[in-house]
Amino acid sequence: MKKRLLVATGGGDCPGLNAVIRAIVKRADQETDWEVVGSIEAFNGILTDPPQVVRLTNRDVSGIQNRGGTILKTTSKGGPFAWPTQHPDGSWTLEDRSTEMLERLVDPLHVDGVISIGGEGSMDIAQKLYEQGMNVIGIPKTIDNDLTSTDVTFGFHTAVEIATDAVDKLITTAASHNRLMILEVMGRHAGWIGLSSALAGGADVALIPEIPYDIEKVAEKIKHRMANGRGYAIVVIAEGAMPVGGDQTARKSDQIGYGNAILGGVGHRLLSELKDHVDVEARVVILGHLQRGGSPVAYDRILATQFGVKAVELALAGDYGKMVAYRTPHVVSVPIKDAINQYNYVSVDSDLVKTARGIGMCLGD
Ligand code: F6P
Repeated sequence: MKKRLLVATGGGDCPGLNAVIRAIVKRADQETDWEVVGSIEAFNGILTDPPQVVRLTNRDVSGIQNRGGTILKTTSKGGPFAWPTQHPDGSWTLEDRSTEMLERLVDPLHVDGVISIGGEGSMDIAQKLYEQGMNVIGIPKTIDNDLTSTDVTFGFHTAVEIATDAVDKLITTAASHNRLMILEVMGRHAGWIGLSSALAGGADVALIPEIPYDIEKVAEKIKHRMANGRGYAIVVIAEGAMPVGGDQTARKSDQIGYGNAILGGVGHRLLSELKDHVDVEARVVILGHLQRGGSPVAYDRILATQFGVKAVELALAGDYGKMVAYRTPHVVSVPIKDAINQYNYVSVDSDLVKTARGIGMCLGD
C-alpha cells in the first residue's frame, strides 16, 4: 500500500493555492510509493460523514496553476478544535473533535502526512495537531503578507497588482472631476498591500494599521493637492487602519464559528472625519474580495510552486512540525510554532516607509 499525503486549504482563499496543490501532486507523483489525497473545505472533509477526501492525480491538477481560488474549497469557520455543533434546542456550541480527527486520519483514511496550507489561524491549528501527534507540514498563505518567518507569502503580489490597477484607474476619474478618491484595500493587521499599491500607483496618502493617522495631517495633504478646488488626490487606506487614539472599523460576525472580526468601512469613516477639515468632492471605493480573486501573477505562481515542492520534500524526509518559508533567495523550513502568535508588520523604520516619505507621501503622521 502506498504512503498517503493529505492536502487541505484553510482560511480565506488566496491566488496561488491551486498552483501549490498542483506542485504537491506533481512532486509526490515522482515517488512511486506515495500518493496524494485532498480534504474538501479545510479539515472539514475528514470530519464529515462520509469523509470528503478525494484522490488527487496529475490529471486532476493539470493546468490549474493559473486558476484563482482552490479546487479543494476552504472555510474560515470552525475547525477540528471548534466544530460548530447544533443541539436539539437549536443552540450552537463549538466542540473539540481533534482527537477524533487524528483517529480518522489513521483509520479509515490511512494518511501518513498532512500538508496544511493556510494563514495564521490554520498554522495555529496545525501546531496544536502536531503537538497531538499529527505529521504535519505548513504552507503559509495570505494576501495580507502578515505571517512572520517568511519574507513573503504567495497571493500578496497578485493583490498588490489588483490594488495598483485600482489606483491607476481612480487617478483618471479623480483627475477628470477634481475629486478626492479614497481606496480601501485589505490589510487586517499589516499595511503591506496599502503601502505597496500606494507607492506603485502614486497615491498622495497611504494609511496603514501600523501608523495611526492624524486627521489634520491627512487633511493638510489633501488641501495642498487640491488647492483652489483644482487638482485631485488619492488616498489608499488599509481596512485595519485607525485614527490616533481610535479603534479599527470592525463588527462581529453572526456566522457560527467565524472568529475574526469583519473589517470594512474605514474609508467611509475617513471621509466623514475629513468633512470637518477640508471641503472637497470625494468618493470612496472598497476593493474588498476583488483582491483575492482571479489568476495569480507569475511571481505568486512560482513561489506557490516552490512551496509545494518543498513541503513534499519535508514530508518525504519525515521532517514534520515545519512550515515552509521564503528567506531570500532560499526556500527554507521553520518550526510552525515560530510562525504563530505574532505578525509581520510593516516596520515604521523600513526602507519601504522611508521611500514613501522620500517622495512626499503622507502616511498620516
Ligand atoms: O486573508 C486576510 C483577509 O484578506 C483580510 O485582509 C480580510 O479582512 C479577510 O481576509 C476577509 O476574509 P473573509 O471575508 O473571506 O472572511
